[in-house]
Amino acid sequence: MSNHFVIDHPLILHKLTILRDKSTGPKEFRELVKEITMLMTYEATRHIALREKMIETPLEKCNGYEINDKNIVVVPILRAGLGMMEGFLQLLPNASVGYVGLYRDERTKKPVEYYMKFPKMFEDTEIFILDPMLATGKSAAKAVELVKENGGKHITMLSILAAPEGIEILENFHPDLKIYTSSVDRMLNEEAYILPGLGDAGDRLYRTK
Ligand code: URA
Repeated sequence: MSNHFVIDHPLILHKLTILRDKSTGPKEFRELVKEITMLMTYEATRHIALREKMIETPLEKCNGYEINDKNIVVVPILRAGLGMMEGFLQLLPNASVGYVGLYRDERTKKPVEYYMKFPKMFEDTEIFILDPMLATGKSAAKAVELVKENGGKHITMLSILAAPEGIEILENFHPDLKIYTSSVDRMLNEEAYILPGLGDAGDRLYRTK
């Protein structure tokens, strides 16, 4: 059974097209990343547990539901993942935030962590890792590994765009992982950029180029 889901809702596809466009500036880019993340979060949280809660309406008692959003952890991968964090927290304001910073070792070509801080993760904690671009999949696979080493069990990856190569790597290393994306693009180029993609997400979020 495949654990990867493409959320190709018209609203997302519309916003994604503006996001990809090279003429879209940083303010609009950040807003779109936030909005797309909110729409993706709506779909990617379908599986989380609900508990019943008795309340009183102005007319009578009624049984309702609540999620335990204090048992949700969101982990943006630095730095582009930060662009998605606000949208996620807007919907789940009591989630705890962990961080993973990774760089690529030029000799081994493998991702190495330079920063890592996680809140407590329990057996039933739902963890959502954020990175707008799932390119080679190596950083994402490393982030999932670090989350697992720190006790995380129920992990979902949210990437706005993905390359088929990245999905394959993640599925091979972490078959238990759920992956949500809004588009699986054609391929990676020789510099590991997603084609057609949207360029460097970090640079476009923070106007660093
Ligand atoms: N990271 C990006 O920001 N863009 C890509 O296309 C690939 C990785």
